[in-house]
Amino acid sequence: MAKHKIALIPGDGIGKEVLPEGVKVLEAAARRFNFELEFTDFDWSCDRLVKTGKMMPDDGMEQLKAFESIFLGAVGWPGVPDHVSLWGLLIPIRRDFDEYVNLRPVRLFEGVPSPLANRKPGEIDFWVVRENTEGEYSSIGGRMFQGTDDEMAIQQAIFTRKGVDRILKFAFDFASTTKKKHVTSATKSNGIIHTMPFWDERFAEMCKKYPNIKADQYHIDILTAHFVRNPDWFDVVVGSNLFGDILSDLGPALTGSIGVAPSGNINPERKYPSMFEPVHGSAPDIAGKGIANPIGQIWSGAMMVRHLGYPEAAEAIERAIAASLVEGGPRTKDLGGNGDTKTVGAAIAELVKTV
Ligand code: NAI
Ligand code: MG
Repeated sequence: MAKHKIALIPGDGIGKEVLPEGVKVLEAAARRFNFELEFTDFDWSCDRLVKTGKMMPDDGMEQLKAFESIFLGAVGWPGVPDHVSLWGLLIPIRRDFDEYVNLRPVRLFEGVPSPLANRKPGEIDFWVVRENTEGEYSSIGGRMFQGTDDEMAIQQAIFTRKGVDRILKFAFDFASTTKKKHVTSATKSNGIIHTMPFWDERFAEMCKKYPNIKADQYHIDILTAHFVRNPDWFDVVVGSNLFGDILSDLGPALTGSIGVAPSGNINPERKYPSMFEPVHGSAPDIAGKGIANPIGQIWSGAMMVRHLGYPEAAEAIERAIAASLVEGGPRTKDLGGNGDTKTVGAAIAELVKTV
């Protein structure tokens, strides 16, 4: 039986409450689909920072290299500045492990109300692929003449052929596995006249290599409008770091609670571990009460087993989530219920056995 080593980082706040539910469901899926997951726990967190002065030990990244994937809860806690916790743990993992794909599904489940009127499940079902390492979020630039009338700031966007081609290739390869087989590119080559025409050229080149994938592109401004007005048009939407950042928050916002949304930070070449985590943070306002929605974590687990090579297991977890939401099963307060984290996790773990 194939065995996969997984690093568990529960982190802070509700991360510590939802992660065990994710593990519970993963174990049920692994039993059913005949693979083994070997979990190792790491207490890297703001708690640890307060006790030892470090979010993770000096050789933390070295330790993580031994794992195939990282399953993370959430990081951040009041009293520790957010940039300290972020740069002490999440950013090093995303950057040093070259997790250049940020992948987020956007799916409306039956039983979860959408802020968009009259939208039914099936009409909102697509993926956002965000470039995660270069683009507009670069450290190149500077400021001059601060505090004077001549004050100025320059921020350079970095688009490399390697960086653009690899994110586009991921999007097309991923679309080859979907039903609709359709990639949409987010651009702005009418206003941003160097980097975005380059992005469009590389997109056109990539299209030629995937004749069976339908491809189109929209400028980012009208694309955001189409997300709201015509979410049924999309399958895989690929964008630069900035455009992808915006779309990957807008997309899940169309489908209800933040407690449901998952994400993957992926190194497709598998040279380094990839990291799967819910979109939400540590939610200090509800932490310790046992009422956090574990579905974002559980769905992140589905993305992880898909990455590990078990699409059937991923689909079973997704079906179990969907079934728990329609069948009048327990649901947490953010979805209008009064179920607790553990009951929801246990219900989904039970469904995974059969659904
Ligand atoms: P948050 O996502 O933790 O909470 C925002 C709101 O959504 C809160 O009202 C919270 O109760 C609710 N919420 C979040 N997840 C929920 C769940 N699973 N079930 C039910 N309700 C849920 O964002 P916030 O408050 O801005 O950040 C809190 C801390 O988390 C900060 O330290 C921040 O830096 C960190 N953070 C960490 C992230 C990560 O680890 N990737 C992502 C976002 C924030
Ligand atoms: Mg964002």
